[in-house]
Amino acid sequence: MKRKLFAAVLCASMVAGTLVVPTAVHAEESKGLIGVAMPTQDLQRWNQDGENMKKELEEKGYEVDLQYAGNDVATQVSQIENMIANGDQLLVIASIEGDSLGTVLAQAKENDIPVIAYDRLIMNTDAVSYYATFDNYLVGKTQGEYIVDALDLENTDGPYNIEFVTGDPGDNNVNFFFGGAMDVLQPYIDEGKLVVPSGQMTKDEVATANWATETAQARFENILSSYYADGTNLDAVLASNDSTALGVANALAANYTGEYPIITGQDCDIANMPNIIDGKQAMSVFKDTRTLASKVVEMVDAIMTGGEAPVNDTETYDNGTGAIPSYLCEPVAVTVDNYKELLIDSGYYTEDQFE
Ligand code: BGC
Repeated sequence: MKRKLFAAVLCASMVAGTLVVPTAVHAEESKGLIGVAMPTQDLQRWNQDGENMKKELEEKGYEVDLQYAGNDVATQVSQIENMIANGDQLLVIASIEGDSLGTVLAQAKENDIPVIAYDRLIMNTDAVSYYATFDNYLVGKTQGEYIVDALDLENTDGPYNIEFVTGDPGDNNVNFFFGGAMDVLQPYIDEGKLVVPSGQMTKDEVATANWATETAQARFENILSSYYADGTNLDAVLASNDSTALGVANALAANYTGEYPIITGQDCDIANMPNIIDGKQAMSVFKDTRTLASKVVEMVDAIMTGGEAPVNDTETYDNGTGAIPSYLCEPVAVTVDNYKELLIDSGYYTEDQFE
């Protein structure tokens, strides 16, 4: 279905002191209205994801209805209801809680509106056509492997002390981030080379509601005062992303005087880059949101024009109704040694953003 998009082009010019406003209104064919539902503007990445997609979709001739839900599930549900009511023809959704969109997406399905799950898989609904994300398991595995190498666990006995800080338990990605990391680290825990002084290792114990920095910080302050106040050394913290890594670093700055631990992260948030450069966060995982946005725009265009959407994985991501055809982009580890090449030379950031 084609929609007419009327864009008023206002070309005002001054002619001999008179403001001349031509009434030129130029009509363009729109290729369709796309709803883009993002979880929150609190975190840098979702702003970039939303803006990148909007820009690229518009360049391809689509109209875009971009909404952010302030991390509130009810708001996201009502935004999606409105998108359906407004005639949006395809929905791209980064969910807040993977399990909470079944009812509203049943309406999308009734209206033949395809749904692409963006970054986070939407669970237990057969309304999801495609999933586009970074390889979440590989993100966790990369973080785990970084810790193994940095502590040289293959060649030393330790024992080394480690703690875990993951993200929102309603975000399906957490299972893959934590799962990927634990597949690498668990054997060393079993061998006794890694020890967890807090004993906190279950998904719920290590979760951080809404991925909030303050929540991670509060939990980590408790861990430090309960298990490290006697001078016990902390060697490593598996933090699943940068907002939680920042909470850990804040807690350490105020409550810990031992040797500084290795801290992992994810996203290469601007807020974390000074810590990476100063050695207060050992690594982050770079997920170039430009790549993901472009891939999703390719998917959207293929679906809207009757072409074939790109996928490279049809097995890994089962949302409870079957495996969802997925496109997985590749995450890359970033440290102080390669951030210039990966983040600055690639034009993702400029160095002055880290000051
Ligand atoms: C994303 C991460 C992000 C986290 C918090 C996850 O679903 O994959 O990139 O750090 O949500 O927003």
